[in-house]
Amino acid sequence: MGKDVIIACDFSSREDTLAFLDKFEGRKPFVKIGMELYYAEGPAIVRDIKARGHKIFLDLKLHDIPNTVKKAMAVLSRLDVDMTNLHAAGTKAMMEAAIEGLTKPDGSRPMLIAVTQLTSTDEERMHNELLIQGAMPEVVMHYAQNAAAAGLDGVVCSPLEAGVVHEKCGKNFVTVTPGVRFADGDIGDQKRVMTPAEAKKIGSDYIVVGRPITAAEDPVAAYERCVAEFVD
Ligand code: C5P
Repeated sequence: MGKDVIIACDFSSREDTLAFLDKFEGRKPFVKIGMELYYAEGPAIVRDIKARGHKIFLDLKLHDIPNTVKKAMAVLSRLDVDMTNLHAAGTKAMMEAAIEGLTKPDGSRPMLIAVTQLTSTDEERMHNELLIQGAMPEVVMHYAQNAAAAGLDGVVCSPLEAGVVHEKCGKNFVTVTPGVRFADGDIGDQKRVMTPAEAKKIGSDYIVVGRPITAAEDPVAAYERCVAEFVD
């Protein structure tokens, strides 16, 4: 499993996204397409970016009954992305159905990653609104173990959790970690952050980096800096 930097392309249009990717000229970074861009532009944007030679993490966080998720994953599978995801809260049955839907006739499929608890959900709300008891790290780890048991490839988690996830779910269970900032950069609305170098040290497999690259004066230099700190 190669370590890589995934750029969160949180743009609202095809035009802005392609103008951003044009800056990279010969380089083909791994990109994350989220709900905003996908719902604005539809599957065509995935095909366009794929045709330009980028790897794609399609971040749509599916969560529905197993049969619906299976069928939706079968459709997404035809887009030939490299990684996609769902909510572990949908249960092991839903995750297993997702794998079935995603698997192509030749047995291959994109990597499938689970969201455990969203980082926007704090422990108090999880207890009082969702009625999920237990400490947050325990709940996150339990969901990660469910994902592993269902046959998923990994989880999205804070870089701070990546080490423990590897301890509990095995070193081949992939950790995809957002919340990455340069030591001398703006934190923005992220609460718990790590530098690319720290994320590497703790064992993240992929870092997802948005604004430190997309809002940089020189996005290509910012990307190269992430790669130098995290991969090289
Ligand atoms: O701009 P920034 O580097 O904060 O972007 C991080 C990306 O990772 C965004 O696309 C955000 O939606 C996503 N993400 C996150 N925290 C999570 C899950 C996803 O920041 N727990």
